[in-house]
Amino acid sequence: KQYKIAVVNGDGIGNEIVPAGVSVLRAVAKKYNFDITTEDFSWGAGHYVKHGEFMPKDGLETLKKFDAIYFGAVGLPEVDDTLPAKDYTFKVRTELEQYVNYRPVKLFSGVQSPLRDKTEEDIDFVILRENNEGEFVQNGKIFYPDTPNGCAVDTSMVTRLGVERIAHYAFKLARKRRKKVTNVTKSNTLIYTLGFWDKVIAEVAAQYPDVEYGKMYIDNASASFVLKPEFFDVIVTTNMMGDILSDLGGAIMGSLGLGGSGNINPEGDYPSMFEPIHGSAPDIAGQNIANPIGQIWSAAIMLEHLGEQEAADAIVAGIEHATAQGNLTKDLKGSASTSEIAERIVSFINS
Ligand code: NAI
Ligand code: MG
Repeated sequence: KQYKIAVVNGDGIGNEIVPAGVSVLRAVAKKYNFDITTEDFSWGAGHYVKHGEFMPKDGLETLKKFDAIYFGAVGLPEVDDTLPAKDYTFKVRTELEQYVNYRPVKLFSGVQSPLRDKTEEDIDFVILRENNEGEFVQNGKIFYPDTPNGCAVDTSMVTRLGVERIAHYAFKLARKRRKKVTNVTKSNTLIYTLGFWDKVIAEVAAQYPDVEYGKMYIDNASASFVLKPEFFDVIVTTNMMGDILSDLGGAIMGSLGLGGSGNINPEGDYPSMFEPIHGSAPDIAGQNIANPIGQIWSAAIMLEHLGEQEAADAIVAGIEHATAQGNLTKDLKGSASTSEIAERIVSFINS
């Protein structure tokens, strides 16, 4: 089998951790007898500085020709993060209908969670973030910004189609796990959008009587991530709440640099995109100290999506091997470099 992968490093540490991830991908491809062909695209905030746009006009058309997209993160301090429609990430996720943002949270052996009494069994769940609508539809306006009457609105939008499809994904995933779905919501105050969200999810839940279903408000869920992470199996939540909760998920894993993810179009109409949960970390870029594990885990999630389960499992085993042996980057109080972690995982795969 052959897979065509579009590789987008992005900015900042993307230029270090994506190549680390690609080296791991090449190692498993060789070991498990499939071909990976990659093509690099230097898009992102750096591209914006040079060309006035994050990617060329035909960038999305280009991406559609690939089986998957392997991505780092975009953003540079000198580029305004609020420029309307500037963003590579937002465009790809929405235009390629990657409506599921799959973000597993798991404690790797040898990593100390800040939740000191929690074990690898306790911290093992998946956040499914609705990735195409909700709070992030970017439909709003700023009125009279430089006057005393300045005001601004953002519209949040939830559609039946959008909620049903992420809900079905959640219940199907739960059937492969511990059969429990928690809807993280805030319908007690966002009574329209999230009231409707809850109603549609409950309707879908009724079609999966074998899966335990409940809802929890986001404020309680935040506390519960810290106090009782073992409560969770599959979480389904909206775009912004999922964004915020995933950084908290990264934190309880021990570092933001450990979180991997997939932006998935489950129907396969378009390629899916795999990236770590964090950003471009300009504060540590260019020093070969960024943790590449979230990026490498994203490669495993990509291979799982492409149907190469054995290769995906080998990558996760390689990560566990590296961390269990104390190969840790600075964010985990270790002294290993980005490239050393990748080399460790590659040599484990080759062994
Ligand atoms: P960030 O996630 O880049 O960094 C937050 C903190 O975590 C920093 O102290 C950073 O050093 C640390 N960190 C992140 N990844 C790490 C890794 N792999 N190893 C070790 N430490 C790591 O978030 P921040 O600082 O809010 O944003 C920086 C830029 O990234 C901004 O321009 C932002 O818009 C962009 N961003 C892009 C995303 C994407 O392209 N998907 C997602 C989130 C932010
Ligand atoms: Mg985020």
